[in-house]
Amino acid sequence: MTERDVAGFLWGVATGAHQTEGNNLASDWWAMEHAPGSFVKEPSGDAVDSYHRWREDMDLAAGAGFTDYRFGIEWSRVEPVEGFFSRSAVDHYRRMVEGARARGLRPFVTLHHFTLPLWFSATGGWLRTDATEKFLRYVETIDPVLADGVEHVGTINEPNIVAMLATRREGDAPVFSRGLPLPDPNVTDAMIEVHHATRAALKAAHSHLRVGWGIAVPDCQPEPGAGSVFASYVRPRDEVFAEAARGDDWLGVQTYTRIRVGIADGQPVEIVGDAPRTLTGWEYYPQALGGALRRIAGVVGDTPIIVTENGIATDDDERRIDYTRAALASMHEAIDDGVDVRGYLHWSLLDNYEWGDYTPTFGLVAVDRATFERRPRPSLRWLGAQHRYRH
Ligand code: BGC
Repeated sequence: MTERDVAGFLWGVATGAHQTEGNNLASDWWAMEHAPGSFVKEPSGDAVDSYHRWREDMDLAAGAGFTDYRFGIEWSRVEPVEGFFSRSAVDHYRRMVEGARARGLRPFVTLHHFTLPLWFSATGGWLRTDATEKFLRYVETIDPVLADGVEHVGTINEPNIVAMLATRREGDAPVFSRGLPLPDPNVTDAMIEVHHATRAALKAAHSHLRVGWGIAVPDCQPEPGAGSVFASYVRPRDEVFAEAARGDDWLGVQTYTRIRVGIADGQPVEIVGDAPRTLTGWEYYPQALGGALRRIAGVVGDTPIIVTENGIATDDDERRIDYTRAALASMHEAIDDGVDVRGYLHWSLLDNYEWGDYTPTFGLVAVDRATFERRPRPSLRWLGAQHRYRH
């Protein structure tokens, strides 16, 4: 890496809108959380009230030594009903950008993170023929948020997971368990179209913006004998989405675990071993980050990579530190071997709503669910101080 690259290395924490804000009443997730017979164990409710407590959250991140703060804009707040655009919601996110800057944090803004306005979702969602047009209208509306003070913009969080969940049927396993179905090819195409159109619109309006998207990239490893089916496993699941990021300013890699890909009846299958698991049920395998970075670097061409999520759901903070230390070591080795990584954003600053319940705790900061009091864990200060690339 050159001195210049090193100087700009992003060192931050990531959050998402629906998982932290609370009361996203006009979103499709809110409706699903309250639908009779929903697979959702508990609704998001007030989440961790970051819609009001974002200043405190940013103080914690900046105070610990982070330089970058990833947060989301919630489309369903900006356009709760089709065609009505909330000026106060836009002002709110604008204040967050200014608040981050005032604390020395570079805001890293996600435009869509799993939740959609219910009006959009209930009428076909990404498969609407005018999906791109509707999304671009939302993006235009939030122009005051992005116009200055923001450098990095992520269009869609984990479009590959969005495309996988699109084929989910009632009665299937909970959302982020293993064994998600193959991405729906129509949703995949729609996501890529929306992403490219949004990138073009944002760059045309503000050439300084650095636009990309973050995809879920497990460290997929072929089991002996499964080499012939490995590509058919990884290609539609993440590599197609990484290829679509060629020409972007960055590709976000979001890694938590590995998946061992075996073969049965000529088809790829996920092998479940008896290794230790985290609170999400995923294998404890911190070095997955390095493996994922190396695999995806071979697909993305010249586009630099930012780790836009990496972390662990655990109730043992020492285990969180051990996991993160080993994950960072595997990232540093990949960088030393020439993988062009420009930043690391840890998931997550706070314990938050983990898409169905609050049990898997990913936070560097615990949150009292009754009072919303933030209780920093030792891992917060520890990780803030691990910035190896600062001058
Ligand atoms: C998502 C986050 C989620 C995290 C842990 C990613 O799939 O972007 O929203 O909380 O992983 O499951």
